[in-house]
Amino acid sequence: MKKKIIIANWKLNSNIKNISIFLKNLQLNISSYLKYNTVIIAPPTIYLERIYKKINNLNIFLGAQDVDIHKQGAFTGETSILMLKDIGVKYVIVGHSERRLFHNENNKLIAKKFGLIKNSYLIPILCIGESEDEKRNNKTEEIIKNQLDIIFEFFGEKAFVNSIIAYEPIWAIGTGLSADPEYVESIHQFIKDYINQYSSNNLEEIIIQYGGSINAKNAKSFLEKSSIDGLLVGSASLDCKEFLEIIKVSNEILCK
Ligand code: PGA
Repeated sequence: MKKKIIIANWKLNSNIKNISIFLKNLQLNISSYLKYNTVIIAPPTIYLERIYKKINNLNIFLGAQDVDIHKQGAFTGETSILMLKDIGVKYVIVGHSERRLFHNENNKLIAKKFGLIKNSYLIPILCIGESEDEKRNNKTEEIIKNQLDIIFEFFGEKAFVNSIIAYEPIWAIGTGLSADPEYVESIHQFIKDYINQYSSNNLEEIIIQYGGSINAKNAKSFLEKSSIDGLLVGSASLDCKEFLEIIKVSNEILCK
């Protein structure tokens, strides 16, 4: 059975004190849940190295929330893929809707970042999904096609091997209104079928997670769907107890 991938996206949250409490709790409780799960923590950049030192021996992976498109040079304030790699990052979130919205990232820039991550042998977590308006106007499939097409255009049919797609409808992020698991299942199927038209990949290799207002209470209804390969968890991942509960739920489903 395919492992589920559970990612904590802390966004611009937490601090040294809270991280230390979180990691102590994690160290004490995580080991029995890792057999069926891959767990990734994506903290703010400034805490990456601190966290790496504590999670490396726990078999939990380090994720970055973004990367610059340049590898080095006069780009004040940015973080390069070489630096992320240097300190133990294995996964990089790219194209999160908050980057698209607040930093004007478009599909082309996101595709470039996606390629940079892959060419550096790290694993991109590509976030895609529609806004509330787009959903209301029945544009979800069109939006997703556009978000995927540019990746295919740049990187060909193997683009989604060794990559993760996170389907995150924008209206479900941070709103407390998670999508309906059946709806998510249908979109995941659409994504798989669409990718399948363009590539000869084994569909089993395509990993698609869901993200948007996941918590310990609703995680089960998503994780029990076979087309949902894991969860990208925002605010609920800041509380170690709640995050562990989500991982535990995943474990229980998979060891049945
Ligand atoms: P949320 O965030 O769980 O707080 O809705 C999810 C995300 O943005 O990845």
